[in-house]
Amino acid sequence: MVSWKISTLLLLSLRALNALAQAEIVEEVTEEAPQSPNLKVSIETKFPQSEIFGVKIINGHATQAVVSISNDEPTPVGLSIIGGSLIQDGLAGAESHIVRNLTAARYSTEIPAGASETITYTFSTEVHPQDLRLQLVAVLKDSKDAFYTLSAYNETITVVEAPTSIFDPQMYVPSRTPAPNVLDGCTESLLYTAISHSSC
Ligand SMILES: *[C@@H]1O[C@H](CO)[C@@H](O)[C@H](O)[C@H]1NC(C)=O
Ligand SMILES: *[C@@H]1O[C@H](CO)[C@@H](O)[C@H](O)[C@H]1NC(C)=O
Repeated sequence: MVSWKISTLLLLSLRALNALAQAEIVEEVTEEAPQSPNLKVSIETKFPQSEIFGVKIINGHATQAVVSISNDEPTPVGLSIIGGSLIQDGLAGAESHIVRNLTAARYSTEIPAGASETITYTFSTEVHPQDLRLQLVAVLKDSKDAFYTLSAYNETITVVEAPTSIFDPQMYVPSRTPAPNVLDGCTESLLYTAISHSSC
């Protein structure tokens, strides 16, 4: 059940972008994914640049997911694809639905037996600011070329607007007026002596 859901998500993500180029691999994934993903691989995903009291995704900006894959199989496994979706979970048992399909990325990273690899998956999106569930999936290939779809991340994140100051050119114009608080009383007085005639 879970793997069916993941494979559906993956199909959606892939179709959203490079449909033709991915057609072959999508077919294989569709055939393989319904198997239970009993691959001894663990995946941990972090958002080192986006974690400020929870994961924040800034509209229109690249979000970098750092995905660590540990291979506990006795043979190497390959990472083929990472993709995902932003999902709105229905309240009180209502159906959840996909709000955005994220652009899937293709990889050809081999993770040797017993080893770990860390890769980055970068995506950007533009949705109404809100809390959504971010579901990331990784498609892995075992040494017999069978494909497995594993969940790489499945948590609630917050979509926020970019702070306007980032784009505000005023931010980069050096202020001509020294901030009074930074200066000690004497310096400040000197600066304004001409006007105020005060002395130190
Ligand atoms: C996600 O992709 C699927 C398949 O292409 C499409 O049916 C669905 O409308 C997409 N959802 C969004 C929100 O783009
Ligand atoms: C992702 O999280 C949702 C909500 O917590 C849960 O219903 C779903 O089964 C999870 N999916 C996977 C693949 O873990």
